[in-house]
Amino acid sequence: MHEKKGNDDKMLLKNSKDIQTAETGARLQYRPRRLRLNPALRGMVRETELNPRDFILPLFIRPGIKQKIEIRSMPGVFQWSSDLLAAEAEKIYAAGIPGVILFGIPSEKDAIGSENFSPDGVVHQAIRVLKNAVPDLVVMTDVCMCEYTDHGHCGVLNVGAPLPHPNLPEGYVLNDETLDILGKVVVSHAQAGADILAPSGMIDGMVGAIRQALDNHGFEHLPVLSYSVKYASGFYGPFRDAAESPPKFGDRKSHQMDPANAREALREVAIDIQEGADMLMVKPALPYLDILRSVRDRFPDYPLAAYNVSGEYSMIKAASANGWLDERTVTLEALTAIKRAGADFILTYHAMDAARWLSEGR
Ligand code: PBG
Repeated sequence: MHEKKGNDDKMLLKNSKDIQTAETGARLQYRPRRLRLNPALRGMVRETELNPRDFILPLFIRPGIKQKIEIRSMPGVFQWSSDLLAAEAEKIYAAGIPGVILFGIPSEKDAIGSENFSPDGVVHQAIRVLKNAVPDLVVMTDVCMCEYTDHGHCGVLNVGAPLPHPNLPEGYVLNDETLDILGKVVVSHAQAGADILAPSGMIDGMVGAIRQALDNHGFEHLPVLSYSVKYASGFYGPFRDAAESPPKFGDRKSHQMDPANAREALREVAIDIQEGADMLMVKPALPYLDILRSVRDRFPDYPLAAYNVSGEYSMIKAASANGWLDERTVTLEALTAIKRAGADFILTYHAMDAARWLSEGR
């Protein structure tokens, strides 16, 4: 083993005439630093460029009027009441950001999340205000049950005596029963004026079920952005504060993916494409750039989104508030990395700040 390594090293030296030092008097053949000499040169050879068009801003909607409540664990992110959204929509659109994704905090929660498919639900009102104020702003809705259920889970639960499914654990999120409700949810969002439906619950068959529900109600023109690859991640912690949606018991590991798995992500994507997904998503973003890259390579002809989640945002905010990181530098670096890894667009709470920094120039 040792001897072989020694030989390899010798070979390497013999073959590397180009790596000679100034001491030898020879010239270097390769000098990558030539192209880093000044900002203009660096700009010419830059491979990845962020643009406000790359961002989708998540918005949390709460009931009431004149409510703008900052989320403790996400400085700079607010829960909004719908009446304030018209002005906000103008600002977002003026910043060059093409769209938003809505999360609702309903006034009342129940076992099946009824407010998520009631025509006057908190998200439905918000959709109407936003589309009315800025018709060109793309309004996506997150399609899941967890913010709307009193138990905080993403679907209908296996509960009651006797259990509806005695062979499944008590409290298990029932798959096909949940699909029926997701169908009602998307139709109600579409009727309120949503432009894109984004199912996020990692329920098997969710893309096919909502595609069919949309088609059956004359919404065959509306695209589905599937949270195809969503991991059971600790990085959603601050979001659960923001959306008031932590599960009351247990966790989401029986539907969201195990962070240890990469090949499984490609299967999830393949199934979503078969079911009719128009666009794909990987979530979270930064700890899963390898997954983003492999989905981009394996399915190059589908638009791919990445969700730069709440915990990723809060880490940067907290470290910057302490003076440990420079917020602007690391935010733009993180977003560039997500795009470089293969994302066509990024759902990010940094959207407004990043758009402003980009317009000011680096
Ligand atoms: C589910 C949903 C979640 C997020 C987006 N959609 C929470 C979850 O799965 O627990 C997390 C987003 C974030 O952390 O920023 N409705």
